[in-house]
Amino acid sequence: MKTLQIAIIVGSLRKESINRQLANAIVCMATTNVSFHFVEIGDLPLYNQDEDDHQSNSVLRMKSEIENSDGVLFVTPEYNRSIPGVLKNALDHGSRPYGQNSWDKKPAAIIGISPSPVGTALAQQHLRGVLATLNMPTLCQPEMFIQMKEGFFDKSGNISEASEKFIERWIAVMLEWMSLNQHP
Ligand code: FNR
Repeated sequence: MKTLQIAIIVGSLRKESINRQLANAIVCMATTNVSFHFVEIGDLPLYNQDEDDHQSNSVLRMKSEIENSDGVLFVTPEYNRSIPGVLKNALDHGSRPYGQNSWDKKPAAIIGISPSPVGTALAQQHLRGVLATLNMPTLCQPEMFIQMKEGFFDKSGNISEASEKFIERWIAVMLEWMSLNQHP
């Protein structure tokens, strides 16, 4: 069975990001037949359509990492009931120049964590709209909104036993779905 190459994009640039911590924990929990690769977005310039004909090296690097992946996992916080600007900036860069959309047909999945009980639900809903425009089939169910509470991560940064099975099941469904949505 082919090893799935999954790109991970974290929507936070913060050093102590709980979403990056979640992404790291997911990488550690994943089983065989998958290889995760973090695609960094913090070095991308602000999107400017004037640059479409001479995209910067960081943009070209990101586009090629996405194009070489079999799917994209977005792990993102919610900012002001939407997605962080840095994530939208990366999505816009990857969609251009016109006709060279690096996201095209890449299966996607979304997960996020926030201190708020409904945290990331609205950001995820906004992100789904953008991904539809980018032609990324996106895992619908199960949705995964995680509230950050004391003890969610253990001292080593892993997901603690109480939530482990729950997240593990989601990872399994997500990977199966990515695998079923591959385009030749
Ligand atoms: C937030 N936060 C937040 N949380 C939420 O659940 N809904 C929201 O709309 C917002 N809005 C928001 C705006 C801005 C500008 C910031 C900086 C923060 C709180 C956010 O969930 C919290 O800071 C997380 O820890 C951010 O994720 P990372 O950076 O830890 O991954």
